[in-house]
Amino acid sequence: MRLQKYMAKCGVASRRKSEDLISRGLVDVNGKTIIEPGFIVDIDNDIVKVDGKTIKLEKSKVYIMLNKPIGYVTTLKDEKNRKVVIDLVEGVNERIYPIGRLDIDTSGLLILTNDGDLTQKLSHPRNEIVKRYIAVVEGVPNRNELQTIRNGINIDGKKTAPAIVKIAKRYENESILDIRIHEGRNRQVKKMCDAINHPVKKLKRVAIGEIEISGLDIGNWRYLNQEEIDYLNRL
Ligand code: URA
Repeated sequence: MRLQKYMAKCGVASRRKSEDLISRGLVDVNGKTIIEPGFIVDIDNDIVKVDGKTIKLEKSKVYIMLNKPIGYVTTLKDEKNRKVVIDLVEGVNERIYPIGRLDIDTSGLLILTNDGDLTQKLSHPRNEIVKRYIAVVEGVPNRNELQTIRNGINIDGKKTAPAIVKIAKRYENESILDIRIHEGRNRQVKKMCDAINHPVKKLKRVAIGEIEISGLDIGNWRYLNQEEIDYLNRL
């Protein structure tokens, strides 16, 4: 982008006034004073200073929810060439990335954004954001087993925090559990269910805090609405 346009976009001054600042020798790019107004800057990497102060482009923040299908990884690139969730979100110009992760064989709610502050907030264990999962498990856990995972199980020498667990449906050989946890340890729900010998057959995340996946078909995405963004900002 031309230097004076970049300066104007950063809110320094109009393009014309920015040209004036440039010709007066007040603008540095990567430590070098630039006096030609048409100078091209790399807006992602160059450091532009006006009168000694670094200027920055306020990037618009984007918040998206995706109903992740099974078979996709939540990393941005995969060394094993597996499908990546970011390929499902077409037509978004900003560089977004998923907040947190879901296993390749887990489906459901994933929030993607370019907002680093929100990412920190949602990922930090201290904030105890509840994630809700629906798990199809083998067999039907009895009361004691349910209580065991509610109380917390040992993963790598550390007990999981108390969880809310209910049986949503019972069948002869399997059941559907509704599980709410606020930690995000690796394969946590599967390990919790393994610990009571009712392994997970299918797992879906249906909510993160008050943000719910309902109404969005598998593989589809949408922008979060203002109410949802306000909720996340209030957290
Ligand atoms: N717990 C799991 O075991 N897997 C996930 O993908 C998310 C939570």
